[in-house]
Amino acid sequence: MHKVQIRHISEKNYQWITGVLKERWGSVKIVSRGKITSANKLPGFIAYFNNQPVGLITYSILNDECEIISLDSLQKSLGIGSSLLKEVVNEAKRQKLKRVWLVTTNDNIYAQQFYIKQGFKLVAIHKNALEKSRQLKPGIPMLSKEGIPIKDEIEMEIELF
Ligand SMILES: CC(C)(COP(=O)(O)OP(=O)(O)OC[C@H]1O[C@@H](n2cnc3c(N)ncnc32)[C@H](O)[C@@H]1OP(=O)(O)O)[C@@H](O)C(=O)NCCC(=O)NCCS
Repeated sequence: MHKVQIRHISEKNYQWITGVLKERWGSVKIVSRGKITSANKLPGFIAYFNNQPVGLITYSILNDECEIISLDSLQKSLGIGSSLLKEVVNEAKRQKLKRVWLVTTNDNIYAQQFYIKQGFKLVAIHKNALEKSRQLKPGIPMLSKEGIPIKDEIEMEIELF
């Protein structure tokens, strides 16, 4: 039985990371809290299954806090997303950071359930935050695949110290 292995991002992963981000988020640029970040230049981890890359997490550290900028599992429900998330939380603990946090959008109920299951708490709803996000990244769709209007940012966190 093969299990998921997690490794640090290295320079040789740059092309793969750029491809995953473009495919999953329309661009390597991710917007959160009115700020645009090139996620392919961030630290992070890649998950491997049978030696193939199957998941990516990127994060940014600022003011004793770690923000998860992107998390993508390419094969659902194999433990890839939770393994990547645990690795970042452990890294934040090692660095004695105060919290790990992220925003997702109101339509992404799937991600909210996933994060709650991993011990995250909902801390804020930033109403209509996507208006500002679309000024920075006009490609963000108005509707989710399910037809839900994408309007608000949902902020979630896990407190560490
Ligand atoms: C959210 C996401 C990262 C989860 O990755 P994953 O590899 O499927 O997650 P895991 O296999 O590690 O699942 C961990 C646990 O969460 C649960 N879980 C996963 N998705 C869930 C969902 N939609 N609803 C409820 N529980 C869910 C799993 O059942 C599992 O529980 P278990 O350990 O009790 O079996 C993945 O679905 C994804 O890439 N989504 C699209 C991108 C995205 O929304 N990213 C997050 C916003 S930044």
